Amino acid sequence: MRKIVVTGPNGQLGKAVLKEYKNDADAELISISHREMPIEDLDAVLNKTAELDPDVIINCAGYTDVDGCEKNTHLAGRINGIGPRNLAIAAQKTGAKLVHISTDYVFDGCGDRPYVESDAPGPVSAYGRSKLVGEKYVESLCQKYFIIRTAWLYGDGENFVRSMLRLSESHDQVSVVDDQIGCPTSAAEVAKLIHYLEQTEQYGLYHGVCRGETSWADFAERIFSIKGIKAKVNHISSEEYVKMNPDSANRPHYSVLEDQMLSLIAPEDGGFQMATWQEAIKNYLKK
Ligand SMILES: NC(=O)c1ccc[n+]([C@@H]2O[C@H](COP(=O)([O-])OP(=O)(O)OC[C@H]3O[C@@H](n4cnc5c(N)ncnc54)[C@H](OP(=O)(O)O)[C@@H]3O)[C@@H](O)[C@H]2O)c1
Repeated sequence: MRKIVVTGPNGQLGKAVLKEYKNDADAELISISHREMPIEDLDAVLNKTAELDPDVIINCAGYTDVDGCEKNTHLAGRINGIGPRNLAIAAQKTGAKLVHISTDYVFDGCGDRPYVESDAPGPVSAYGRSKLVGEKYVESLCQKYFIIRTAWLYGDGENFVRSMLRLSESHDQVSVVDDQIGCPTSAAEVAKLIHYLEQTEQYGLYHGVCRGETSWADFAERIFSIKGIKAKVNHISSEEYVKMNPDSANRPHYSVLEDQMLSLIAPEDGGFQMATWQEAIKNYLKK
C-alpha cells in the first residue's frame, strides 16, 4: 500500500487527485491543508512528513492568483518557491517521491512552436518567476521528483470556464483575448497523469497538458457552443484587455507545451496520452 500525502487538497487539482485515486485500493491518501502544514514553513513540513513517513508527496498547493502575485511577490516567493523547496528537502529526508506541479507561465511566450521540456524558460510575470524558483529547488534538492508543467487549468473551483458560464448569465456578449494561445487542461486529466507517473521511476521534468492548442477567445466560443449558450464572444487583444484591467500581470502570448518527455518514456512504460482539449472540455461540461 502506497502512503500518499496530498497538499492543497481543497484546490482544483487537489480535489481531482483525491477523486482519481478513489478506486486505487493500493493507495492510502492523506490530505493536508495549509492550516495543518503551511508549505512555506520548513519546520512544519519536516515535522509533518517525519510523522507520516509517506511514500509519495503530491504537491497541489500553490499561490495561483497570477495578478495577485504581482502585488504580493514576497508571498508568491514563499508559497511557490520556498514551499516546493521545503517539500523537496522533506522528500529527500524521508525517501518519498515528490510530484510537483508547475506552469506554462515559466516561458516568455515569444516562440513560434510548442515548448519542449528542454527549452529555456523566461517568465514574464511574478507568478512565473516564483514557479520557476520552485522548479529549480525541486530539481536540485531531491532525487525522486516529477515536475509536471501544466496550463490553463480548470476543475472544481474558480477558473476561466466557470467565469465564462457565470458571465453569460448576465451578459449577451463577453470580451476575451484572442492573442494568447495555450492548452486548456482539465484537472482530471492532470490527476490521471500524476497517478500514472507516480507509480514509475521515470523521474524528471514533464509537460502535461491536454493536446492541441487554442486561444482564450476560441476556448470561450467552444464552451458556449457545447452548452448551447447564445452569448457572443468579442475577440480583443491583450493590449485592450490590459487597458481595461491595468493591474493584470503580463502573460505569454504563445505558451503551448509539447509533451516530449512523455513520448520519450512511452516505449518503456507503455505510454500515457492526455485527452485533446476539445474532448476534455466536453467531458467537464457534461458533469
Ligand atoms: N490554475 C491554473 O490555471 C494553473 C495553470 C498551470 C499550473 N497550475 C499549478 O497547478 C497547481 C494547482 O493549481 P490549482 O488551480 O488547483 O490551485 P488552487 O485551486 O488555487 O488551489 C491551490 C491550493 O493551494 C493550497 N495552499 C495555498 N497556500 C498554501 C500554503 N501556504 N500552504 C499549503 N497549501 C496552500 C490551498 O489549499 P487548501 O485550502 O486545501 O489548504 C489551495 O486550495 C499549482 O501549483 C499551480 O501553480 C495552475
